[in-house]
Amino acid sequence: MNATTNGTSDAVERTTETESAPPITEFTQMLTRRGTVRRFRPDPVPDSWARSIVELGMRAPTSSNRQEYSVVQVHDPEKRRALAKLCTNQQHIVDCPAFFAVCADQNRVAHALSLYDKEYPAYGLEAGLVASIDAALVGLTMSYVAESFGLSSVMIGAARNHPVEVAKVLELPPRCYVVFGLCVGWPERPPLPKPRHGLTGVLHQDVYRPDPHEATVHAYDGQLADYYRARGVETPEAAWTKVLSEKLASPKRTALREELRELGFPFL
Ligand SMILES: Cc1cc2nc3c(=O)[nH]c(=O)nc-3n(C[C@H](O)[C@H](O)[C@H](O)COP(=O)(O)O)c2cc1C
Repeated sequence: MNATTNGTSDAVERTTETESAPPITEFTQMLTRRGTVRRFRPDPVPDSWARSIVELGMRAPTSSNRQEYSVVQVHDPEKRRALAKLCTNQQHIVDCPAFFAVCADQNRVAHALSLYDKEYPAYGLEAGLVASIDAALVGLTMSYVAESFGLSSVMIGAARNHPVEVAKVLELPPRCYVVFGLCVGWPERPPLPKPRHGLTGVLHQDVYRPDPHEATVHAYDGQLADYYRARGVETPEAAWTKVLSEKLASPKRTALREELRELGFPFL
């Protein structure tokens, strides 16, 4: 999607002249403007706002109404520092006005089942995915709520670098792990929205067409390079492909399955 449009830039293939343009709403404008922010002003996020971010975030859909997530808001500066250390020293975890650990959590469902003398089902992969997807949807919705309040955010997937240690810091019970963290606060400066792949490479009609990949990816390399240059960030010409090929060259989080098992959260 071209970040300066309403998300319709190259979705032209099936549009007929009789169709009206999709509405531009406050929500679509917010999505068009949004971008990850890593530097925040020190002004606090009021507690009532933080609670509202979580409560409205929970309006996200949830698989079979299982609601398999929990959120830990971390205030304690010591804990923030410990978490930052476990998350590649990301300083925004310490500095942001509000930090949330968004967890996949099977405990309330396990409790519900125990009332009927039933064990939590043993189909680990599906159950792990359900809880993790639930948590991701809540976390994403929280970020949109924050955005709608004029705040900005950055998700912290690095919370899965050392999930056992992260769980210790937050005293998580078994069957609970941090899917990602969410730093929230007032942006130091408004984000410059990062471009996305063109819609023709992403949206397929009826069947998947692999042919546009080359054009999509090539065009995106250039757009992303322009984006970084506009922000004064050094970039290779092939800003997406080259950087990703280096980033993904060595395996990441290879112990994750075992670590999640240790946390009583068996994925497989
Ligand atoms: C699940 C998830 C985990 C992420 N983890 C991190 C992180 O640990 N640190 C960070 O600086 N950004 C993180 N990000 C932010 C992405 O880098 C960012 O969303 C992506 O580059 C696209 O940029 P945009 O959000 O500004 O459009 C994460 C995003 C997601 C969705």
